[in-house]
Amino acid sequence: MTEKRIDGKAFAARLRERIGERAAEFAAKAGRKPGLAVVLVGEDPASHVYVRNKHKATVEAGMESFEHRLPAETSQDALLDLVEQLNLDDKVDGILVQLPLPDHLDEQSVIAAIAPDKDVDGFHVVNAGRLATGGEGFVPCTPYGCIMLLKDRLGDLSGKDAVVIGRSNIVGKPMAQLLLNENATVTIAHSRTKDLPEVVRRADIVVAAVGRAEMVKGDWIKPGAVVIDVGINRIERGEGEKARLVGDVDYAGAEENASAITPVPGGVGPMTIAVLLRNTLVAAHRREG
Ligand code: GUN
Repeated sequence: MTEKRIDGKAFAARLRERIGERAAEFAAKAGRKPGLAVVLVGEDPASHVYVRNKHKATVEAGMESFEHRLPAETSQDALLDLVEQLNLDDKVDGILVQLPLPDHLDEQSVIAAIAPDKDVDGFHVVNAGRLATGGEGFVPCTPYGCIMLLKDRLGDLSGKDAVVIGRSNIVGKPMAQLLLNENATVTIAHSRTKDLPEVVRRADIVVAAVGRAEMVKGDWIKPGAVVIDVGINRIERGEGEKARLVGDVDYAGAEENASAITPVPGGVGPMTIAVLLRNTLVAAHRREG
């Protein structure tokens, strides 16, 4: 019997290995490695960890990593200048500005300044529009990773009842769009949804992306449903003890009913970086024509 636990870490490792092979083929043909530029502004500790992990994975996949660490007090103009410089740099195929930005910076206008064809995060309105209208763009990494895991378990998603809990631009909305593109019947639930447990009980696929520790309870899950938990919530413990990471779903409870479920950590998280590398490789190929 297939294990209920979806091993995103192992899936992502295999994907990264394949991307590494393709990156080497690209480098042999193009005479340069695919390049990813990551911009980090300020001192947010979680962002520093993410950026370090992205750098390591990029280098391991045989790609060039260009890191730009800027002080928290960086001005909007200085940040926009850097983005423009990266847009024009031929060695840079993908640009990622790590979010969140410090409060005085306007995230939307920074994202809008990234050339859509280097927007490997898929956050630019042009790429959001392409996703919504069926064009070839870049899809945000986390939801794309979720779709890969779902298709690996379920094959065809056509006609499945899917509930996405959360409506962020980064996860919830693109996730719903991707499920719709796979011909699922999609409900987007959020903080104002009436009777969330009942909505979730109808679903064959549950994607939780709300950022609230273990809010989705085990008895909300329909027997046989597939559960994808995007949440990463830190639960602080006593003095001197390491914080515990939990998802948006009560794993132990949900596992009893689900046919498959992603753990936290080791589920969706590792997929995000793997898809970022995939998008960078795709960008490199498109730019080289
Ligand atoms: N912050 C948290 N997740 C992400 C992501 O996927 N991309 C960027 N740019 N910032 C993030």
